Amino acid sequence: MMNFDRILIDFEKLEPTAVILVVEDETQVRDSVRELIEETDYSVETAKASVQSLRQRGARTIVGLLHVSEGVTRATEIARALDDVDVLVLGHGSDDPAPRPTVMVGRTRIVYAGANGTHLGRIDARSFDAGGPTLEDRTLALTKSVPEQPGVGFLAVIEPELAKMATEKAAAAERRKKGQKEPEVYENWGYGSNGACGLCHTSELAQWKTTEHAHALDTLKKSGHDRDPACLGCHTTGYLQRGGTRFVETAVKQFSDVGCESCHGASVLHVRSIDKKKGTSRKVEPRVCFGCHTPDQNLGTLDYATALPSILGPGHGAVGDR
Ligand code: HEC
Ligand code: HEC
Ligand code: HEC
Ligand code: HEC
Repeated sequence: MMNFDRILIDFEKLEPTAVILVVEDETQVRDSVRELIEETDYSVETAKASVQSLRQRGARTIVGLLHVSEGVTRATEIARALDDVDVLVLGHGSDDPAPRPTVMVGRTRIVYAGANGTHLGRIDARSFDAGGPTLEDRTLALTKSVPEQPGVGFLAVIEPELAKMATEKAAAAERRKKGQKEPEVYENWGYGSNGACGLCHTSELAQWKTTEHAHALDTLKKSGHDRDPACLGCHTTGYLQRGGTRFVETAVKQFSDVGCESCHGASVLHVRSIDKKKGTSRKVEPRVCFGCHTPDQNLGTLDYATALPSILGPGHGAVGDR
């Protein structure tokens, strides 16, 4: 168990809420989490002491994040041992991939939204009196019909895609063993790629190169994630989108970075058409930006109006040019 006894969230000053983290296999703790927590200690006793101390300091809702084996069975034991926790959230790998109905152990609510980002668990906390909030939880399936948050929509497509990639990799290995040739694979792209846009829009391309969007793949390279499908959706153009490539190599080589069509939309028809007003979108709605600049990825909140000047400039949609 880790000692993570800080009061973290105070949503709209309504509820002092605290989060504790329970991890029973230290090798599972990511460096990013480690950075948040100075001290680590894995005993149930420490977590219990944290819970008591948090209550004394005024936490009205305590949420425990679990990364344990044996799923609900173990979570039930931990709930009993900790005694006074409101919610225990089971992490991935701790149970089967499908979400589970909520289990109540005394007053502790054990929730599990399944693995692989196919579902989203949501807990509503409503506070009307001094007795602590009423909690209500539900699980949302992240299907493609969840449109208003493309970053979330991306999570829904990535898992099936990873499974497909694994199958294809195995089939390719089998072919190699048998000395068979790799079949040619064709894709019909709706995206034209930056190379194509730059043939005519030289000033826009030159300006775009000065923006951080032009280095998005380099950024991934620095951390060794430039072949990681989970990152390419926002650091390349059109990956796994309708009309975009589904191959990592193609995404990296032909559609690297946050290119023209990340904002203007898939524009191969514009490249081909005679009427150059068609097949692309000049206007870039804020939701296009927020599709990638999601709260979990963005450092701070992106403000559309103040952000625009840093992605536009002379030669490309500069205020003075319009
Ligand atoms: C063969 C040359 C050519 C290529 C290639 C090309 N464009 Fe264009 N584009 C034009 C011309 C010409 C216009 C019209 C300019 C005007 O009339 O104001 C235009 C206009 C645009 C507009 C403004 C549309 C509007 O309604 O005002 C956008 C956005 C645009 N292009 C994006 C792209 C993107 C993205 C690509 C790459 C996929 C691309 N273009 C490739 C020639 C090209
Ligand atoms: C396809 C995903 C994607 C879209 C769409 C997108 N961005 Fe970005 N944006 C990124 C990524 C990734 C970075 C980080 C690039 C880097 O530093 O490697 C970034 C960086 C930025 C930065 C510089 C860093 C910062 O936060 O100050 C600004 C400003 C920005 N984007 C504004 C916008 C605006 C405005 C729009 C819409 C008009 C937009 N972006 C659309 C992915 C996207
Ligand atoms: C939902 C879209 C999205 C996904 C998926 C995504 N990123 Fe980003 N990433 C962004 C945006 C937007 C920015 C710019 C954030 C800013 O400047 O505020 C960014 C910036 C970054 C940066 C530079 C700023 C920083 O945080 O230090 C790094 C590094 C980075 N991303 C790595 C990754 C890695 C690694 C992955 C995959 C594990 C990934 N990103 C997946 C959207 C995304
Ligand atoms: C981060 C989002 C973003 C990216 C990436 C981007 N643009 Fe734009 N672009 C915009 C916005 C916003 C405008 C201004 C739209 C308006 O006039 O309302 C614009 C305007 C334009 C225009 C019309 C005004 C002008 O300057 O001619 C063209 C053409 C264009 N972009 C082409 C491109 C090309 C080509 C690329 C890639 C080299 C590119 N854009 C990359 C957001 C983007």
